[in-house]
Amino acid sequence: MLLTPVTTTPIETSAEAGAIIEPFITEEELQSRVGELAYEIAQDYRNLGVTPEQPLHLLGILKGVVPFMSDLMRAIPTDVPASVDFMAITPYGPDTRRNGGVRVIKDLDDPIEGRHVLLVEDIVDTGLTLGYVMKLLRSRQPASLRVCTLLDRASVRLLDVRLAYTGFEIPDQFVVGYGLDYRERYRNLPYIGVMKSQ
Ligand code: IMP
Repeated sequence: MLLTPVTTTPIETSAEAGAIIEPFITEEELQSRVGELAYEIAQDYRNLGVTPEQPLHLLGILKGVVPFMSDLMRAIPTDVPASVDFMAITPYGPDTRRNGGVRVIKDLDDPIEGRHVLLVEDIVDTGLTLGYVMKLLRSRQPASLRVCTLLDRASVRLLDVRLAYTGFEIPDQFVVGYGLDYRERYRNLPYIGVMKSQ
């Protein structure tokens, strides 16, 4: 689903950042798309034959993914056995678009060998972060490994990564809200907005 920003009156301003947040994806659009993704994921993993012993294993990359993961996991019907784990990473340098190096600061709690892993991401931009995480996860030999991202900014991709499930494809504009931050702010916005200079 390709979205372009809606032109509405900005409803969030930040003097500190000198920025305006322009509403982009509403709460209703987020919830509706999350429901569709959950339905599709549930169908696919039923077909894959997940069981309580070998469930759909949802892995989230902290912290941006928290609202999306929380909504997605609750939207997956309970006949599909599911488990959840999280990993936290941090970029080595200030600009992930240039160096792509990341460091694991909180590893997964459980091994993933032989498990059906679905990596859940908030946004895939250059794909460098995802590439690093996928390489790490693949080395742990899961039974299957797929990616679900809420947002995909495909126009700036530097590394070709296969996304099994995508919520919204977005243009090259910085977005905040619904988990996504600008210097740790705006994660608690219930919608996604485009950040613009005043
Ligand atoms: P990539 O390695 O370039 O794909 O960057 C992915 C990471 O950069 C995401 O997990 C976010 O943490 C961050 N990021 C990229 N674009 C945005 C944005 O528009 N808003 C907030 N964070 C972003």
